[in-house]
Amino acid sequence: MKELAQRAYFFLCLAGGRALRSGRYTTTRIVSDGGDLRVRKRRLFHAPFLIWMGGPLVRVLNTGVRILPQVEWEDRVRRVSQSLRGTSIQTDAGRTLVLPYLAGETLATSLEDPQLETSVRKSAMELAVIALAEFHDLGLTHGDAIAENVVVDLETGVAHWFDFETVHDSSRGIEWRRADDVRALLASCVLRTAPEDLAETVHLILDVYQDEDVTRLLAENFASGLRRPLTFHLAQAALSFQSFREIGRLLSERLVDSPPMTSFAPSARPSLPME
Ligand SMILES: Nc1ncnc2c1ncn2[C@@H]1O[C@H](COP(=O)(O)OP(=O)(O)OP(=O)(O)O)[C@@H](O)[C@H]1O
Ligand SMILES: [Mg+2]
Repeated sequence: MKELAQRAYFFLCLAGGRALRSGRYTTTRIVSDGGDLRVRKRRLFHAPFLIWMGGPLVRVLNTGVRILPQVEWEDRVRRVSQSLRGTSIQTDAGRTLVLPYLAGETLATSLEDPQLETSVRKSAMELAVIALAEFHDLGLTHGDAIAENVVVDLETGVAHWFDFETVHDSSRGIEWRRADDVRALLASCVLRTAPEDLAETVHLILDVYQDEDVTRLLAENFASGLRRPLTFHLAQAALSFQSFREIGRLLSERLVDSPPMTSFAPSARPSLPME
């Protein structure tokens, strides 16, 4: 009976997630500016209404994130771009953000390429995880760390995170926020992975990120399907019920194999002031 309830709830959340994902509120255009490529990102006319409506919804779903209104969004993009890349961001008339173009392909696009060699797939995921860990080491967290929001440049061997419209709630602890980012990245990579490579993908991401406390928090998301944020999580990555279960099983096995850290053991990542 519980199994049936879990499946039914999961499919409802998948449908809800699809509806959430269909709500578009920004446009992004890549333009040439005197030979240099730039990205122009602007909110649509109805964006303030959608964001206002979404506020109570993300709270009811207990997602631990919120979508920033225009001015806070611009401010965050400026601060993050300055910390990450030392670049200052302009906003032109009509409140369009003009961002530097990041070379490469999104991790999502790379993983969806059926011609991509396995070793290159793994390198692309590794680069995205390394860039996420470096982002976290600055005391920042992303809030929507899905494979669509990171570009990987395989030629230079670097990845860059972008799209800073969603922010973690300040009430959540830093470890929780980091775990939420790793969860989003892991789920959106698994979504683009063949079932026979699922376990390898999960272990690769956690081995590269290397923080067992984060793994422990992340595992809670997959321990049971009957959780409030599931709709939002499936909007980020529409996993199948089988993949969701399999991730949960792999994570619990992994935790059994690694004993909990003692309270005086140092945390794997430094605790810097939060955003
Ligand atoms: N700085 C950048 N450099 C290169 N490409 C970018 C950059 N910013 C955005 N893009 C491209 O534009 C796409 C959409 O950008 P972004 O993720 O910021 O918007 P979004 O709000 O998620 O929009 P959508 O819902 O259409 O994906 C990305 O998938 C990426 O291909
Ligand atoms: Mg995006």
